[in-house]
Amino acid sequence: MMDAKLRPYVTFDYDGFTWADETKMMEIIHSGGKINTIAEMTREYFDELVWLLVSQMDSEYVGAYGYMPIVYIAPQFAARELKDVPAIVHDEFTHGTRIRDALNMIGFDADRWVENHQHDYSFRIRQGEKLSAKRPTMDFRVNIFYYDLVVPKNELMTWINFGLFQFLQDRGAGEQLRDTLDSSFAPWARENGKTMSEENKHIRHGDMWMARLFQNYPEFIQQQFDLWWPRSLATFGRPESRHNDLWRKLGLKRRTNEEVVRAFLDRSEAPFGLQIANQTVGLEILTTEEVLTMWRQSTVPGKV
Ligand SMILES: [Fe+2]
Ligand SMILES: [Fe+2]
Repeated sequence: MMDAKLRPYVTFDYDGFTWADETKMMEIIHSGGKINTIAEMTREYFDELVWLLVSQMDSEYVGAYGYMPIVYIAPQFAARELKDVPAIVHDEFTHGTRIRDALNMIGFDADRWVENHQHDYSFRIRQGEKLSAKRPTMDFRVNIFYYDLVVPKNELMTWINFGLFQFLQDRGAGEQLRDTLDSSFAPWARENGKTMSEENKHIRHGDMWMARLFQNYPEFIQQQFDLWWPRSLATFGRPESRHNDLWRKLGLKRRTNEEVVRAFLDRSEAPFGLQIANQTVGLEILTTEEVLTMWRQSTVPGKV
């Protein structure tokens, strides 16, 4: 069933549309073929695809807004950051725009969606405030984007949060993106291929700053890491996810949530998983098995 909030943005005759035959579509997917247009989709495929794309688009745009204030403080830490941080902000807007184009192409009016939700994109909960189970805005962002990177009147902590966000969240999102590079929806795979190479740069940027900052402020870094860490884990979804099972059946995604968390922690090729990346930083991080237990028991409100 299509989410009621998304339904008004469909630009074609959704109820009268002749959807693809399920057996035929599944044959294409099982033989490694790709889906490019709505005519090749079942209704279920379309519904799930739109949900995934809107969630990514909103997260990219919201992420871009979240990074914008960092531009003001960045050059205090290194002059070259006046070039790098605006470039990262630009990357995030570009990532959102790639998904917006893909949505418009399949008959979802993503432009109007953005026009109607843009006022929410800069919304963040206050420092120390807990995120409730009921989402505070109407956009489809991943929950971690509700937390503010900016700590008022504390530029060092704000900068640490920014570096940490790349170290953790870009790495986690990158791992989730990797899963879509072989998606059955060809335009998504193609666009995320470009996005991925940019995310890899963000991860390297975060790794570099974490290593540098940890030398001077190990307690602050550990403290902020412990704060962001459960929020980051919650973005991987639930261990038993019916949604993820469905996405894998449709070939939209390929791995289980647990496989993605494991790769996030233990990936042995560049960009390395968190455990290897941390060898040049020095944070105290639980073992992979302990992290997985923590993730399975997590009560932080997260996505599906
Ligand atoms: Fe991004
Ligand atoms: Fe990024």
